[in-house]
Amino acid sequence: MGEVDSAFIQAIEHRPKLAVTEADGIPLIDLSPLNSSDSKAIARLVAEIGDACKNWGFFQVINHGVPLDCREKIESASRTFFTQSLEEKSKVRRGELSPMGYYDGEHTKNVRDWKEVFDFVVEVPTLIPASHEPDDKELKMLHNQWPLYPPNFREACEDYTRETEKLSYKLLELISLSLGLPAKRFNEFFKDKTSFLRLNYYPRCPVPHLALGVGRHKDAGALTVLAQDDVGGLEVKRKTDGEWIRVKPTPNAYIVNVGDIIQVWSNDKYESVEHRVMVNSEKERFSIPFFFNPAHYTMVEPLKELLDDHQNRAKYKAFNWGKFVAARNLSNFKKLDVENIQIYHFRKSDQ
Ligand code: OGA
Ligand code: NI
Repeated sequence: MGEVDSAFIQAIEHRPKLAVTEADGIPLIDLSPLNSSDSKAIARLVAEIGDACKNWGFFQVINHGVPLDCREKIESASRTFFTQSLEEKSKVRRGELSPMGYYDGEHTKNVRDWKEVFDFVVEVPTLIPASHEPDDKELKMLHNQWPLYPPNFREACEDYTRETEKLSYKLLELISLSLGLPAKRFNEFFKDKTSFLRLNYYPRCPVPHLALGVGRHKDAGALTVLAQDDVGGLEVKRKTDGEWIRVKPTPNAYIVNVGDIIQVWSNDKYESVEHRVMVNSEKERFSIPFFFNPAHYTMVEPLKELLDDHQNRAKYKAFNWGKFVAARNLSNFKKLDVENIQIYHFRKSDQ
């Protein structure tokens, strides 16, 4: 990480402004009804998921079917990877031509997040538009870069991703049902998915009250399924009053949040909620988000079945997911001091 002095100065702008509450955390949902044929229990589960998406945009799941040893393997591989020397990690550093791999923190308004990251795509290669220009039809292929150490790193990552992807499909189907749609309504969008997995490492921070692991943001994709360790630090903006609520670590649970795409598909019924990550001076922290995203050519727009000509007119114009990603990547790489592209840019003005 950088010098404390410069981090200190940068962090001034970055400092959290609201008090944090631990009470009334995000809902905890037990997915075990999925293993039964008890249709009443499944209906209750669907209703719980719908309420959580509507009221919080965030929830935790237990009895989710992801084997614990699979999670432990990737957690251990991640710890070994990040605690290597910078020289070793830099062998898989991402670049403009190869955007997957290792890097330290994203920049938001010229302030760097207090973290290190390793990204890889699930589908190899993953196709995305070469540029954000609407008329440029050229595509580029994303490949992964794998470190040599630890030796089981790649296998641990790929095994884990297969499992979290299965869980993501289950969640997607529950969300679809909760909107009154057929379970597999969304599945077609994920045939050539652009999903990726991220390993986050938040080192100890000497000025924790002045820096953030990740500044406030919303996730742009469809769904995020996150494993956090026992340190804690993730905070979610409560919809009812805008307070930052800490997500207490629950052993072997996954934290799920709906991203911007589900907000648009649901025509704002399920909003993508802001969240951020605090750092601390005593403990380093690890987390693993799986970003479940559709094919680049997906035109994201409110689902017709949820619309009518009266109360429920479409609140968004259709936009191309791949171009959206390309525009985001461009501003991240160039470290432009401009606002990222956001879904509200596609909001219809008459709504
Ligand atoms: C993210 C994110 C939360 C965490 O990477 O988008 O919100 O706990 N991470 O690391
Ligand atoms: Ni996030």
